[in-house]
Amino acid sequence: MQRIFSGIQPSGIPQLGNYLGAIRNWVNLQADHECVFCLVDMHAITVWQDPEKLRTQTLTQAAILLAAGIDAEKHILFNQSAVSAHARLAWIFNCVTRLGWLNRMTQFKDKAGKDRENHSAGLYVYPSLMAADILAYKATRVPVGEDQKQHLELANDIAQKFNHDYGVEFFPAVEALIPPAAARVMSLRDGTKKMSKSDPSAQSRIELTDDADTIALKIRRAKTDTGVLPADAAGLADRPEARNLVTIYAALADLSVDAVLARHEGEGFGPFKQALTDVVVSAIAPIAQETTRLMQDEAHLASVLRSGAQRAQAIAEPIVSEAEKIVGFLK
Ligand code: TYM
Repeated sequence: MQRIFSGIQPSGIPQLGNYLGAIRNWVNLQADHECVFCLVDMHAITVWQDPEKLRTQTLTQAAILLAAGIDAEKHILFNQSAVSAHARLAWIFNCVTRLGWLNRMTQFKDKAGKDRENHSAGLYVYPSLMAADILAYKATRVPVGEDQKQHLELANDIAQKFNHDYGVEFFPAVEALIPPAAARVMSLRDGTKKMSKSDPSAQSRIELTDDADTIALKIRRAKTDTGVLPADAAGLADRPEARNLVTIYAALADLSVDAVLARHEGEGFGPFKQALTDVVVSAIAPIAQETTRLMQDEAHLASVLRSGAQRAQAIAEPIVSEAEKIVGFLK
């Protein structure tokens, strides 16, 4: 059985893009993989986080993932900082990674913008910690949204260079599992920007804890153009907001974009947004409800994460110890 690793930053409430790009896929992959799912709190602090909020959000995210269908008994769910192997391997990888490789990372460029000098060194070496997350478990398959593709290519470059520099065949190749539909869900306020849990506007995203009224309001206010829905996907070219809404509908209803358009061709956005609201509410509302229930027992959530961390540690420790021996650390 192949091992899966994936992670999500507890830097906010997961949104619909996290769900369609990653979480839904995680839930499905559990049937035939050995899965390790991680709340990457060390990645989250590459941008300053309020400490109390980070703690609460870590527990809330654990609750959301359990509510969405992650099975923390058969598989592993834990927070990254609880397993020190991640930090140790990340340091080794920082020494393998070339600056030129990091300079090419588009996510750093997007996040840092023009104000590069004022961002943390952690944000810059973020992808080498990500490679360490995956390779500390020798995981071979990584389900992510499209925005993480470049980071996974870098993880492969790091693994290969480590193997080459030390003359070993130690780290395996990593395969990105990117969903065929909705691999990049866009903001509801701007169809050219990715939907993000850290966008300052809460109106730009649907959060997995939103109730039906909030979802309806956000979809009603979502930016659209003045046209009607076209007959097929070709008619959505150059209409990023319309394309995004139809893509969300298609992914949640398990239909192709063309099939959705065949049903709604010629409709204005008023009625289409109503139909979309129904589809989103029926996917999200059960998760939100179960999350509220699980959040009533924070001690239980904390113990789920602790047990996950122990089991994660048992896998990662021998692998990272071996990597430390390979580079020549006296043990
Ligand atoms: P994060 O927290 O930004 O996002 C978690 C997952 O959600 C996907 N995603 C999206 N997919 C589609 N449309 C969107 N708008 C959207 N926004 C987010 C992301 O692609 C991701 O799969 N670097 C990672 C966390 C991480 C990780 C890892 C992932 C740390 N170590 C090791 C895989 C393996 C991140 O920031 O995710």
